[in-house]
Formats: sequence, structure tokens, C-alpha cells
Amino acid sequence: MRFAADRPLGVAPATASDYRELARRRIPRQLFDYVDGGAYDEATMRANVSDLHKVLLRQVVMRDVSVREPSVEVLGQRLAMPVILAPVGLGGMLAQRAEVQAARAAEAAGVPFVESTVSICSIEEVARATRTPPWFQLYVMRDRSYAENLMARAHAVGSPVLVLTVDLPVLGARHRDTRNAMVGEPSAAAKVRRGLDLVSHPRWIREVPIGGKPLTFGNLEEAVPGARTPAGFQAWVNANFDPSVTWDDIAWVREHWSGKLIVKGILDPEDARRAIDAGVDGVVVSNHGGRQLDSVPSTARALPDVADAVGDEVEVLADGGVRTGLDVLKMVALGARAVLVGRPWAWAVAGRGEVGVRHMLEVMKGDLDTALGLTGQTSIAGVDRSALYEGGAAVREG
Ligand SMILES: Cc1cc2nc3c(=O)[nH]c(=O)nc-3n(C[C@H](O)[C@H](O)[C@H](O)COP(=O)(O)O)c2cc1C
Repeated sequence: MRFAADRPLGVAPATASDYRELARRRIPRQLFDYVDGGAYDEATMRANVSDLHKVLLRQVVMRDVSVREPSVEVLGQRLAMPVILAPVGLGGMLAQRAEVQAARAAEAAGVPFVESTVSICSIEEVARATRTPPWFQLYVMRDRSYAENLMARAHAVGSPVLVLTVDLPVLGARHRDTRNAMVGEPSAAAKVRRGLDLVSHPRWIREVPIGGKPLTFGNLEEAVPGARTPAGFQAWVNANFDPSVTWDDIAWVREHWSGKLIVKGILDPEDARRAIDAGVDGVVVSNHGGRQLDSVPSTARALPDVADAVGDEVEVLADGGVRTGLDVLKMVALGARAVLVGRPWAWAVAGRGEVGVRHMLEVMKGDLDTALGLTGQTSIAGVDRSALYEGGAAVREG
């Protein structure tokens, strides 16, 4: 099967897939694969995209759609459209100070940027570069004092929302990273391949490792000494992420975090109910972009049941496979108040920096606006399953 992104890119990028192609050229192969790849056979990662394609929109005509409202309120914040830049670990490897560039683009577009625990630029650096503080994504380490310290730092810069990622008690195997020797000790041959890969991207070398200050984990500098290589970092994650976290720990998070709290990585309605009982403000239906457990359902498929189980009690967000404004409308129709996008911003920042992310978001907003008009809708906030052909039944049938 050929994807649109496999076409040679002789024209200006028009879609997230075009940015994927640009990124493929601009950054070393091992980094491209780190972003592009998923866990095991990547079946869930592909299903995130293909199931969204199966969800059909319902074309409705002859309604007055002269005014169309894409903005929405999420966790007390007004967003220009229901899109959020997802936390992407090591994002700052993709372009010079990439998290700062992406956060600036998000701010210009009126949508939030989520700073990952394992970002290259620190939360303070990102907050200094923008007027709107980023949301903060937390991984809990065995030494709880790191998480407590990170929550204090996020609070100090004014982060309004803590995104607690709960689907990574252990790391899913990402075979592309193993093949590229991003995991484990590289063989001599792998080192040569990596060296050739790097030298064939002189612009990236000039701008990122050389021009971009030393690459460190801005939020974890003291925590990860000696884990400066990807392989060292993976080993550090395995040794330090805490797999003993349970719903009872939400109370501990609440002791240290007074802002909004959402849990990211929910696929199961029963887990969503537990999250509500534990006192969160929202859930993110996510399979980590297909990077954790393969063979779990796509998020488009899992979302309606989770949304039904949650009802109006807390906010439901979702991510996975969203590439266009049409996908945004589909996810909202399936039950999400807003969506997070991961790879689209990673590709755009790798391909064209802040300008690329800004453009990618503009295109997404334009497409969402068109989709609203052609489904006969005047406001994204009012979109429900009636915007889908047969209520979106196709994705439920698999
Ligand atoms: C390269 C990469 C790194 C990621 N790092 C993190 C992370 O540090 N924390 C986190 O909660 N999710 C992380 N994710 C998952 C994203 O936040 C999001 O759930 C996922 O990318 C959504 O799928 P999409 O890429 O198809 O949009 C990462 C995803 C990618 C692609």
C-alpha cells in the first residue's frame, strides 16, 4: 500500500503527511523512525489511522452554515479549536529548541502545548518563550521526590493542567528503535551506520546538537546523569519509571497539584470509571500513538464506549491517528471534547520548525471549518454522533 506521504515532495507541504515526508529528509533516519514507529508489529498504530478513515461523515446540505464556530472550552480554557499539541518525549532532538518552537506555534494558533517530562527544553525555558504557560505531562518515577519536584516546577510557571500519563508502567518494545540501535549497546557496524546517517544530515547537526546548546533532558537534568545517549536513556526509563502506581496514587498527586488533573492512556470504560472515582478532571483516551501495547483497539474504536461510560461527569479527550481537520471532527463526533496530536507536530517541527507547526495547525483548522460546513454544523461544540454516517457504526464493527 502506498501512502500519500510516499510521494516525492516537489511542492509546498499541504498536509501533516507532507510534513512527514519533509521530516524524513531533514532528520537522521533513527530519529525519523523513533517518531514514526510504534510498538511490536505496529498494528494498533496503523489502526489508529485506518479506523479514522473508516468513520464516515454525514453530508448534510441546505442548512445555513454561514457562521461556523470552531472554538471550544476545555478544562476551563477557551481553545481556538479542539486541538492540543501532545507531549512528545525527546521532541527537542527534532529541531533546534523544538519544544519552544512548537509551543510558540501553539500559542499563535490559540491551542495548548503539552510539555513532556522527557523533553529536551525545560518547562521553564518553554514558559519563558511564551505568554501562555504549557500544560505539563508527568511520568512518575520510583523516587517520588522527582515527580513532586516536577509538579512544583510546573505550578511555578503557571501550568494550568497536569497530564498524568498512566499507560507506561513498562515500556512496549519498539522494534525500529532496536534495529537502529536506539536501544541497547550498538554493534560496531551499527555505530558506523549511525555515523553515516548523522553525517548525511549536516543541517540537522549544525542546528540541533551543535547550534542548539547541549542536548539534555531539561526537566530531569539531575535525575538522569549518564543517560545522554538514547540507549542510556531507555535503560534509565526502565530502571526508574514506577510500575507500582495505582488509582490510590491520585490522592498523592492531588496533595501536590492544585490545578486541573487529567489521566492519559485510558482505553477501557471500567478504567475511565475508576479515574472518575479517584477524582480526576478528565481522561485522555489514548494508546500512546500505538507505541505501547500492540493489538489493543484503535482510539477511534475505543472512544465511544469510554465517552458513554463517562457521560458529562468529567471531560473526555482523545488522541491517536488524528492527521486532518476532518479527523478532528470525527473524534469530537465519537465523544471527545478535544484531541491531542503527536506525530503531526513532531513532523512539522522537524520539517520546518515553528513556521511548519503553525502552518500545520492552520491547515487543520481550515479543514475542520470546511468539514463543519459540509456536515451542516455551525459549531464544533454541538457536534455529536449524528454528524457521522450511520452514527459511526462502521468503526464499531471493526
Ligand atoms: C515520538 C513520540 C514521543 C512521545 N512521547 C510521549 C511522552 O513523553 N509522554 C506521553 O505521555 N506521550 C508521549 N507520546 C504519545 C503522544 O503524547 C500521543 O499520545 C500520541 O502521539 C498520539 O498519537 P499520534 O502521534 O498518532 O497523534 C509520544 C509520541 C511520540 C510519537
